[in-house]
Amino acid sequence: MSGIDSILTETRVFPPSDEFRINANISGMDAYNTLCEQAASDYEGFWGKQAKENITWFKPFTKVLNESNAPFYKWFEDGELNVSYNCIDRHLPLLANKLAIIFESDNGTVTRITYMELYRRVCQFANGLKSMGITRGDRVVIYMPMSIEAVVAMQACARIGAIHSVVFGGFSGKSLQERIIDAKARVVVTANEGVRGGKLVPLKSVVDEALDGGGCECVERVIVFKRAVHEDAPWTIGRDVWWHDFIKGKPEHCEPTPVNAEDPLFILYTSGSTGKPKGVQHSSAGYLLGAINTMRWTFDYKPSDIFWCTADVGWITGHTYVGYGPLAVGATQVIFEGVPTYPDAGRFWKMIEQHRVSVFYTAPTAIRSLIKLGADIPEQYDLSSLRLLGTVGEPINPEAWMWYYEKVGGGRCPIADTWWQTETGSHMLAPMPGAVPTKPGSCTLPLPGIMADIVDEAGFPVEAGKGGFLVIKRPFPSQVRTLWNDPERFKKSYFPEEYNNKYYLAGDSAHRDEQGYFWIMGRIDDVLNVSGHRLGTMEIESALVANPLVAEAAVVGKPHEIKGESVVAFVVLKGPRPSGEEAKKITANLREWVGSEIGALAKPDEIRYGDNLPKTRSGKIMRRLLRAVAKGEEITQDISTLENPTILKQLQETL
Ligand code: PRX
Repeated sequence: MSGIDSILTETRVFPPSDEFRINANISGMDAYNTLCEQAASDYEGFWGKQAKENITWFKPFTKVLNESNAPFYKWFEDGELNVSYNCIDRHLPLLANKLAIIFESDNGTVTRITYMELYRRVCQFANGLKSMGITRGDRVVIYMPMSIEAVVAMQACARIGAIHSVVFGGFSGKSLQERIIDAKARVVVTANEGVRGGKLVPLKSVVDEALDGGGCECVERVIVFKRAVHEDAPWTIGRDVWWHDFIKGKPEHCEPTPVNAEDPLFILYTSGSTGKPKGVQHSSAGYLLGAINTMRWTFDYKPSDIFWCTADVGWITGHTYVGYGPLAVGATQVIFEGVPTYPDAGRFWKMIEQHRVSVFYTAPTAIRSLIKLGADIPEQYDLSSLRLLGTVGEPINPEAWMWYYEKVGGGRCPIADTWWQTETGSHMLAPMPGAVPTKPGSCTLPLPGIMADIVDEAGFPVEAGKGGFLVIKRPFPSQVRTLWNDPERFKKSYFPEEYNNKYYLAGDSAHRDEQGYFWIMGRIDDVLNVSGHRLGTMEIESALVANPLVAEAAVVGKPHEIKGESVVAFVVLKGPRPSGEEAKKITANLREWVGSEIGALAKPDEIRYGDNLPKTRSGKIMRRLLRAVAKGEEITQDISTLENPTILKQLQETL
């Protein structure tokens, strides 16, 4: 367990104010403990009750959990529902005229739509999909900018039982192609372009590149939302259709298709420890329940709230807390097209002021970059509408936490540091903010019904202060059901034999303090977390070695002040080791290459060249050494087993 021992230093504790606690959905520690005890004493009874109360069922379930084919768990398996109905239709009797979405574009134009208007748009688009024969179980890839239409497309799929797979707009044509092929998508929904930070982001041309790359014959239609200034887009007649033409004349009512609780709602590809992204498959009912519960529990949702989650719909956070959660509880939410630094570093705060946002959810990397651009900027805005703040995606350092708490939250708003993953679908470890006192840098305690623990290699809980593996010991409704096309990998990745194939292994190390608070320490596998985005080192290595110049590559992470981690690549070229100007040129080329193979987010920040890589005599690359070299640390580790110790010097020299 070396390398994951912990040091406890943070001792500050911030209980909610009396005012917050008194008004909270879950008020005080007793209320929290009662829920946890209910879950512990009657697990299925607890979840069954949650599912009955929070979801509107077309056909009620009679069975809560089926563990007979573990780890392919089934929840509420004989129930039928429709997720879009739960997110829209059921609110209409009372909330038809309530704002569902306040959309702010990159240049500040605001569009507001009510639940009734959202209903019409979703129905029209769903009818469009239906008219081309898309039905329950078909796959639709969505490659869209942040927009009302992205949410409409997701909801329309849910309405007819189609399975969407949203691909983040920053991924390259090649990444998109891989996902389209793996999902065998019949439709791709995109926009001609996106606009971020005043710049045009190509989308349709990337879709064309993906489709031209071969293997995508499954795609019958590309639906193109006209977003940006250019009237034209590269076009394939017969296949491509403008969004506005696609919905023209389509009825504004579409009966929601009842689906089984376990019908897949979506597939979302994420990085793992091999080169191939994993298609994380989520269910309909269990996923929806996780989204609804955590809106009420973690975000203490109140009908008067204006909720804003800044995540892109291309990530799980944007699925659960933009595409589904806020709508499922009937909230008014802000959706933002742009970036936090455009036109200046006050953009978030200006939007909070203007839209009177009360619950705000963002990533530590955004917070850190905004601090750097001017720690006092939030003071220029009226942030009094805020009552609760959240963070997600990576550990937040206590300094950034304190700044967020004081400068943004005015010392009055609890901070919900939420730990979860693409695979868990919704928050797992997070404070119920009217109950659980917070500590800067800790995601605090498990939510009720989440049996999280920290264990050693043998599966025994570790004592307080000791690092170990974060596991979840019982299945929970919103967890990943399988990996699309790869059930074996699903079993192997998440339910290791060491734990009798029973515990869900999250892939993170963590420790607990004396009060049982969880502190996440980082990934235990070869996955990096760059600006809150998950990247597999193997994925980047495969991209690098696909370049004709490259013989071998190893990628590691290095701590980065703003991004959390940065990407460092060690490369052996087929030709001689480059230096000076030549090395610079090759580095620029390789960075571009990785950008086009995976996406700009995966470009290495630094590339170092050697005649070889440090390997053991059996040929294994010694990544731990490479991590030390990347950090510029002195090598204190034993290198006697190294086949080629001189290589280390070479790799260090390139500093
Ligand atoms: O390492 C953990 C980190 O992000 C990983 C999950 O990444 P992804 O599936 O992309 O989902 C991100 C958004 C939910 C985790 O394994 N992580 C996520 N939230 C936190 C975190 N690390 C520390 N603190 C968090 N609050």
